Amino acid sequence: MLRVDHAGELGARRIYAGQLAVFGGTPVGDVIHEMAEQELKHLNAFDRLMQERRVRPTAMLPVWNAAGYALGLGTALMGKEAAMACTVAVEEVIAEHYNEQVKTLLGEEYKDEDELRETFREFRDDELEHKDTGIRHDAESAPFYNALSAVIKAGCKIAIATSERV
Ligand SMILES: [Fe+2]
Ligand SMILES: [Fe+2]
Repeated sequence: MLRVDHAGELGARRIYAGQLAVFGGTPVGDVIHEMAEQELKHLNAFDRLMQERRVRPTAMLPVWNAAGYALGLGTALMGKEAAMACTVAVEEVIAEHYNEQVKTLLGEEYKDEDELRETFREFRDDELEHKDTGIRHDAESAPFYNALSAVIKAGCKIAIATSERV
């Protein structure tokens, strides 16, 4: 769980970094910057938890590093709406994933994992807020919104499945 979440938060940071390369210093850049700061908080939490529990990061980190940035930059170059559509798609998948983890941690065998469960709940709520921010900033007016959203969600699911394995 920690390995895949760490990978996801790193990917999120990189997506927002790619978007900020285009929108830094603009009003929408400030909105993106605020979300990026929260991803840093998430990422730092997983760094700490992984060290405490001696979990190694996924071998895919260099790939997510590059792919995240490319996704952020690419969608930003398509325009502010496409960048926000990317946020909505990614955050929806990540929030769902946190939700699945919370459900797992409600199981009897994880009754002592209150810290993890509460962390995942808190981060899920942050990601849902990011998704709402994307919608408020016209994500749904992006060109080819449905196709763009479907492709990005599929990519995120593949990234999750891969990071859980290697
Ligand atoms: Fe996050
Ligand atoms: Fe987020």
